[in-house]
Amino acid sequence: GSVAVILPAAGSGSRFGDEENKLFALLRGRSLWMHAAETLIRRQEVGQILLAVAPCDRERFEQQLLELPHSDRFRIVEGGDQRSDSVAAALAEVNRMPAPATDEEAVDGLPPRIEWVAVHDAARPLVRDSDLDAVFAHVGHSRAAILATPVTGTLKRSCPAISGGSLFESETINGITFDRRGMWVAQTPQVFHLDLIRQAYQRHRGRSATDDAELVERMGHPVALVPGAADNLKITYPEDLLVAEALLSERLK
Ligand code: C5P
Repeated sequence: GSVAVILPAAGSGSRFGDEENKLFALLRGRSLWMHAAETLIRRQEVGQILLAVAPCDRERFEQQLLELPHSDRFRIVEGGDQRSDSVAAALAEVNRMPAPATDEEAVDGLPPRIEWVAVHDAARPLVRDSDLDAVFAHVGHSRAAILATPVTGTLKRSCPAISGGSLFESETINGITFDRRGMWVAQTPQVFHLDLIRQAYQRHRGRSATDDAELVERMGHPVALVPGAADNLKITYPEDLLVAEALLSERLK
């Protein structure tokens, strides 16, 4: 287990609409966040999971954690105002305390040293083992690899200057509308060599990014795009939960 997984879970989920953190919404009778956490902690590459949570949610996460396998391999850290603050807080904890060893790795008495970091949105419950296989396999070559899907819709871009109200006007570049070929939607997990992602965060300290790969790209380091399943959806709106529920029941048939 040389991979530390960071699960940012400290969001307020304002688009979801509930008072409480959307990650506690039930999906197949279990809190939303527990689905990806369980898939990830069962992976043999994964030595520990750092769960970044808001202080007000800490107790609840701590309790629910005990229902997961290998709960001793989780650590809860305090998240921040922006997603990138939550990831930065978790990054600072990697290798700070020895990750508990699995039985095989405990043989020589030394806990495995974490070399890789995978950031995964706690709000993406449906990530598949086959996608994890692919992204973990790739990252060894490029030191940075993320799951992504090709864009399927037609893209339009509006001019930011006139996007103040609720009406937007589409913008063309040299009379050509956006070409979706070569355009991807980023998903998670996003996997990086520990030194690389730490360097990226250090260099862009304080800059808010919704995507960790963006910070690595800004350093001029290429990020491999690994085609992932389209059903690795992020729960943002309540209706996303209905879709996830349907996809999960189909999978478990
Ligand atoms: O809000 P959104 O779903 O896009 O956030 C993506 C993930 O980042 C969620 O799992 C959310 O809990 C987490 N997050 C965080 N700290 C924040 C904001 C979001 O850990 N300040």
